[in-house]
Amino acid sequence: MRPDPLRHIMLDMTVDLKYASVLVTGGSEGIGRGLAARFLRAGSKVLVTGRNPEKLARAAREMPGLLTFVNDISKPGEREALAKHVQSSLPDLNALINNAGIQRRISLASDTAP
Ligand SMILES: NC(=O)c1ccc[n+]([C@@H]2O[C@H](COP(=O)([O-])OP(=O)(O)OC[C@H]3O[C@@H](n4cnc5c(N)ncnc54)[C@H](OP(=O)(O)O)[C@@H]3O)[C@@H](O)[C@H]2O)c1
Repeated sequence: MRPDPLRHIMLDMTVDLKYASVLVTGGSEGIGRGLAARFLRAGSKVLVTGRNPEKLARAAREMPGLLTFVNDISKPGEREALAKHVQSSLPDLNALINNAGIQRRISLASDTAP
């Protein structure tokens, strides 16, 4: 059983990331991947998700120790599957970075909403 990292916050206002077990949704590239790399370097256990298995495989190759799971967070059934997967693969999860997302460029001026 790993110690609770929050205990360290109470004591000295720092978090010992060696005891963090982190889920980063959308962690195969971009900001999520960068965060996953930082957590891994600090000794955390890190699981990242994404829709594209090739991107996840590349991230796992380039970041030894990284756990990956193919998952589309926009689909309710897949969110359930992710919850189950986390219970078995990362039962001591204590940090979530819900980063998965895309940006759409829209023109506010052409919006027809009242
Ligand atoms: N970059 C910016 O300037 C900026 C500014 C404000 C907010 N954000 C937000 O910050 C987050 C990360 O941005 P980013 O620039 O790093 O994006 P990015 O480089 O496009 O990376 C997005 C990551 O999310 C994954 N992803 C996308 N849709 C997903 C889904 N439905 N389920 C699971 N994974 C999914 C992608 O992998 P797959 O494609 O394989 O699924 C990828 O790993 C996004 O939520 C974005 O909206 C970014």
